Amino acid sequence: MNDADRLRPDSITALEGTEAALLLEELASLISYHDNRYHGEDSPEISDADYDAVVALNRDIEAAFPALIRADSPSVRVGAAPSPAFGKITHSQPMLSLSNAFDKTDIDDFIARISRFLALESTEPLGFTAEPKIDGLSISLRYEAGQLVQAATRGDGSEGEDVTANVMQIKDIPHRVTQSGAKLPDVLEVRGEIYMTKADFAALNERQAEAGLKPFANPRNAAAGSLRQKDASITAARPLHFFAYASGTISTAVSDTHHGFLDYLSECGFVVNTLTRLCHNAEELVASWRDINTARPHLDYDIDGVVYKVNRHDWQQRLGQVSRAPRWAIAHKFAAEQAETTLLDIDIQVGRTGALTPVARLAPVLVGGVTVSNATLHNEDEVRRKNIRIGDRVILQRAGDVIPQIVRVVEASRDGSEREFLFPDKCPVCHHPAIRPDGEAIRRCTGGFTCEAQRLERFKHFVSRNAMDIDGLGERQIELFVEKDWVRTVADIFRLTAREDDIASLDRMGQKSAENLVNAINAARKNELSRVIFGLGIRQIGQATARLLAQHYLSLDGLMNACRQAQDNTASAYSDLVGIDQIGASVADDLILFFADDSHRNMVLDLLGEIQPPPPEQPEDSVISGKIIVFTGTLTSLSRTEAKAQAERLGARVSGSISAKTDYLVAGADAGSKARKAAELGVTILTEENWRTLINS
Ligand code: IVH
Repeated sequence: MNDADRLRPDSITALEGTEAALLLEELASLISYHDNRYHGEDSPEISDADYDAVVALNRDIEAAFPALIRADSPSVRVGAAPSPAFGKITHSQPMLSLSNAFDKTDIDDFIARISRFLALESTEPLGFTAEPKIDGLSISLRYEAGQLVQAATRGDGSEGEDVTANVMQIKDIPHRVTQSGAKLPDVLEVRGEIYMTKADFAALNERQAEAGLKPFANPRNAAAGSLRQKDASITAARPLHFFAYASGTISTAVSDTHHGFLDYLSECGFVVNTLTRLCHNAEELVASWRDINTARPHLDYDIDGVVYKVNRHDWQQRLGQVSRAPRWAIAHKFAAEQAETTLLDIDIQVGRTGALTPVARLAPVLVGGVTVSNATLHNEDEVRRKNIRIGDRVILQRAGDVIPQIVRVVEASRDGSEREFLFPDKCPVCHHPAIRPDGEAIRRCTGGFTCEAQRLERFKHFVSRNAMDIDGLGERQIELFVEKDWVRTVADIFRLTAREDDIASLDRMGQKSAENLVNAINAARKNELSRVIFGLGIRQIGQATARLLAQHYLSLDGLMNACRQAQDNTASAYSDLVGIDQIGASVADDLILFFADDSHRNMVLDLLGEIQPPPPEQPEDSVISGKIIVFTGTLTSLSRTEAKAQAERLGARVSGSISAKTDYLVAGADAGSKARKAAELGVTILTEENWRTLINS
């Protein structure tokens, strides 16, 4: 049962005042908790529909007991407070949220309210736009004299986070708007939604999984997580997009209507959603809603409804807002795509790092155009919290249209034959104890390399594309070689070259494929060191960290010996390890723990008998070796990409954002907020000319 169903009284009007006050208190804390999960941690626990239901319950109780509306009422707050990791920006005009409509009656009411408010004659035509409600995160972009100077997240609606450096990395967002002088206001604030496409989301999660990192729940969380990165170069590596759909402060009006404003944005170089329509009454609005709902499964981005906005700006102005939502707009939501099915069983999957993940096996069912027969249950707490039993009828939902989720159990359908699921305290594959450390959600198998499931997953990771990348050695082949007992350790993968004839005699193989495979394995013996380090599959060591470690330690035994010495955290090896930029204590701990294990040490020594990874090329020694450099503005004699590559070649590290650690800011033409920030922090600012002189010196 969802929270709203659990908390909703039989009759709100029959409540005693004290009961209503208690309910409002509980709802305020519940909604605040979920707001934080959603906005602060990009990791929601409940579906949007369940969230909307608790918000609606809160609103209904407040409507019946207006005297009891709390100072911290969820209806007067939007979203979560800004995260302390970013600077804060107070919005020049608050970023509002939208009220929701669910059916035609709600739309009729919306239109009637507006006509009443404006005291319109019944014959006076009202115009609206109908545009998709993009399921991403909203952002406010401030342009001064055409130059992008600031970007802020919505935050709590009044104050958001400064994500300027990160937003600068998004290709859909122009750094400069080009308009003939007369039509370019001194201050132009453009608001819209940053999102990730469904295809890019799937590819990103694949990379996350390969790197042993937690996958994102849906494209919206992936977009939020990608934007809110302290290191803007991570944002740059994530494909984010932007649709412009609203304004903040504008010093001189550019259009009388919203539709005209959207056209203006489009002329300025922004991407505006092409499904937007002009409508004149409830019937036309609902027809647009239907069309967009039909298009929904075919769109490459998630939408969760259609937003209707009064077209005339002067009317928007007069209508104003109630609490934190405009009177002139409403979001007509889509029903979440849900289906009911039977949970046949719960299996435990053992991952590369030993994580035990419960997976629901379901009677196949179609949800939003896709047949679903499995759904992850995340961890044991989730199974308990949702009170899931084997044999239950469950409601399934495709969250953000991608990962199937079990929303809830249909408790009314139980007949007593359902079985409770006992989470194992032993690995189902190797039977070693599975331990869940205090404060962690995940139980892990302690079998390490002796666990066949972990071993297999590690081998798959070792040969994967971003690690050793051995042509012809995919997951299927690895499974086969493990089954034949030809591969028991990673070093055995290289010893396969002595089995060319055995391999050739396998089904669907043949001499030529076997020869190709042997050649590919031999070629991988010289793979760069960072690929080998990444391939070991150490917790938290993704590709970027592996590259840093390779640069620093230059050899695998160098890395291993240093990590073994660093077990003593007073040793210089420890301070050396945590001194590497971007390596913190938690990553250091995982490295130390990995190499402290003798079975891992033996595995590495065995591996080193088979491969000779060359040390990474050392950057040239130069005046900028080891310096942290930020580029901003437009460079004239070379591209930004080329300038960065040049700096890195000379041993500098290029960063996307200014901090006290920055050594130089290279400021091209029209450098904006970064130059100001650099000046405040006393960072040396170089012109493009100074920069050329410096690196040629
Ligand atoms: S207009 C004053 N238009 O929905 C109205 N919002 O639930 C401001 N959203 O915070 C919003 N697509 O993040 C508007 N076409 C669209 C939208 C849209 C998505 C988001 C936006 C807003 C939230 C409100």
